[in-house]
Amino acid sequence: MSVDILVGTLWGDEGKGKLIDVLTRDVDMVVRFQGGNNAGHTVEIGDEKYVLHLVPSGIFRPGVKCVIGNGLVVDPIGLMEEMTALKERGIDISTIELSDKAHLIFAYHKACDKMKELAAGKAKIGTTGRGIGPAYEDKAGRCGIRGGALRDLALLEKLFRTQCEKYNTRFAAAGVDTLDVDAEWAKVKEAAVYLAPYVTDTVLSVNKAAKAGKNVLFEGAQGALLDIDHGTYPFVTSSNTISGGACTGSGIAPRYVDTVWGVMKAYTTRVGEGPFPTELFDADGEELRKIGREFGATTGRPRRCGWFDAVISAYSCMINGVNKLAITKLDVLDTLETVCICTAYELDGKVITEMPTSAADLARVKPVYEKHPGWCCSTAEARTFAELPENAQKYLNRIAELVDAEVAIVSVGPRRDQTFLV
Ligand code: IMP
Repeated sequence: MSVDILVGTLWGDEGKGKLIDVLTRDVDMVVRFQGGNNAGHTVEIGDEKYVLHLVPSGIFRPGVKCVIGNGLVVDPIGLMEEMTALKERGIDISTIELSDKAHLIFAYHKACDKMKELAAGKAKIGTTGRGIGPAYEDKAGRCGIRGGALRDLALLEKLFRTQCEKYNTRFAAAGVDTLDVDAEWAKVKEAAVYLAPYVTDTVLSVNKAAKAGKNVLFEGAQGALLDIDHGTYPFVTSSNTISGGACTGSGIAPRYVDTVWGVMKAYTTRVGEGPFPTELFDADGEELRKIGREFGATTGRPRRCGWFDAVISAYSCMINGVNKLAITKLDVLDTLETVCICTAYELDGKVITEMPTSAADLARVKPVYEKHPGWCCSTAEARTFAELPENAQKYLNRIAELVDAEVAIVSVGPRRDQTFLV
């Protein structure tokens, strides 16, 4: 039996969907524990490509229970559409469970997200516009509407109308378009009827599975440096993306957890605003974006690209307690003559090896690089560590040493078979 958590180590888009899909070979249950449909987990099986936003990435393995835990904020219309699309492609969705404690996202949260970003001007966060922040604000403000209400249409309608009117008053005061409450309710009602059979007390199912010795995998979304507490605040998402979030976001106790998998790219990317010390603005950055197909799975935005940053990666491995690393997209570096790893920063004339807490300081640091010779050949066909070119092996070993965790999985391409255990 094992209860494992898989998290993205930096700013998301590390390839978690693919890893989860690979790791679910022997898994009985996959649990999402935070975030919402701001996530975009890509899974490629054969010639088929799927992008999951709310449904856990275990959905492609028959019989694997897929839990949408209490820590999520769930757009019911988005979830209904995602489930319908999966079903149309022949995927069994009967294994999905939606927590009765998960908070719901409605049109007014999305409108509010956009309104706040517009009002912030240059200080915007660069959110996905999915209403994530406002929905978590309502949760913390104790006026959110939870999954359980999907099973009681009369209650849901009353709560929805009250909240929607409240937001409309706010929109009107700000000179923003108000929402048509009746039209929005009609859409919510349809989604509620569709989703109601999937709503349950997932805290019980997750704990029963762990107690019965099942293999349970917790699927993190976004990445540790987007964590509301430990990330590059305020340029973060609104949930606890680190491994600790798996406990609060699902109701599982810490004592059950065995392994924490940290998924990291062989280089670094970021979507949205915020500091990114190793960001490249030159031809190498363009090359990484092009070869790595670095465009957001949820918003299509081009991702910012840069060298591997061991300072923030080591920090992330520490707060997550990562013991196993899954390094993805190694193949994207195949053509580069030199690859760099940032091992320290210069800040105000001093060399530092710890990540500064303040985003403003992180934005001012100058990376100190270690240069490594590239391998200048394809890694896409490698299926063991020994089959990797020597310089690629050295590069991975150096990363493991710097972040103090063991490389356990390497991914050398988007397909399921282009992944191997070390
Ligand atoms: P929000 O989660 O939509 O509020 O966006 C807050 C920040 O998190 C923005 O910088 C987004 O680009 C980033 N973000 C949210 N979800 C993801 C994700 O799944 N991958 C990468 N970045 C994300």
